[in-house]
Amino acid sequence: MHVCEVGPRDGLQNETVLVATSDKLRLIAGLAAAGLPEIEVTSFVRPDLIPQLADAEEVLRTALATLSTRVRALVPNLRGAERALQAGAPALLQVIGASETFNRKNVRRSVAESSSELHAVAAAARRGGATAMLSVSTCFGCPYEGDVPVEAVTRLVEAAGRAGMLRVEICDTIGVANPRQVYALCEQLRREFPDMRFELHFHDTRGLGLANVVAAIDAGIVEFAGSLGGMGGCPFAPGATGNVCTLDLVNMLNEMGVRTGVRVEPLIELGRWLEGVLGHRLPGHVLRAGVQPVVAKES
Ligand code: COA
Ligand code: ZN
Repeated sequence: MHVCEVGPRDGLQNETVLVATSDKLRLIAGLAAAGLPEIEVTSFVRPDLIPQLADAEEVLRTALATLSTRVRALVPNLRGAERALQAGAPALLQVIGASETFNRKNVRRSVAESSSELHAVAAAARRGGATAMLSVSTCFGCPYEGDVPVEAVTRLVEAAGRAGMLRVEICDTIGVANPRQVYALCEQLRREFPDMRFELHFHDTRGLGLANVVAAIDAGIVEFAGSLGGMGGCPFAPGATGNVCTLDLVNMLNEMGVRTGVRVEPLIELGRWLEGVLGHRLPGHVLRAGVQPVVAKES
């Protein structure tokens, strides 16, 4: 199973404490050292709207210069893609909401306007020797519109495919998905788009994050996003809380006998250090409880 750590982007963008660039880089280096195979390190959005990520260029450049782990950056539009590529991004993901109102609040464009940039973003990435993927937010529900029709998601996946993108992240931005809904959507996406790679991105807002991961695994999904300690949320989704906690996710997969290549103990240490940086406790369970104790058997 492939786990992508999105805490430095999705997590930090919702933290009120302005985290120093050096601490972000220490966090990213720690995540890489623990074996995370891919890290979403930042996003190239308007710095006046998301001041927490105003150091995107420096974070990306330094991460690329110092780490061998795959890194990627989120972009809201072509301008963001150009900034990311200028800073050397080897991979970027363009975010578009499946729901019209959410997309307008998040990136100030209609879904059609954002979709019309997919080709240009993919072409710019190709020219820069980078890969481009799509991230679809509010796939399971919208804070403004409620239910989101499955067709709104499949239309965007189709558009990504037409633009030459081979990978799509399916996000439950506000944590409203339930395991049956997740299974059904994943099963349909895999059936309709057999050549597309899907990553599932859950928020644990209502405590269903890991249950949804298991439902997605049952439907054949092998790629997931998580954030260290479960930090995060979304500044444009009222009430949204953190991602599925990477530690809890990796620990669960380990206990299920599924290999991720990620080591839990260094992540626990890193998570405790991060709590100090952020000035508050993080919601992850394994951060508190540690890994399951191995009880010595009586001989
Ligand atoms: N990065 C930096 N500046 C950007 C930019 C980007 N990605 N996209 C546009 N701009 C600049 C333009 O160059 C222009 O600057 P100028 O006035 O000096 O010429 C100005 O912003 C307005 O451009 P416009 O195309 O009208 O953008 P906008 O104001 O409608 O903003 C977004 C669009 C997407 C950049 C903005 O809404 C945004 O950053 N949203 C944040 C989304 C987010 O982070 N959500 C959470 C994660 S999903
Ligand atoms: Zn998210």
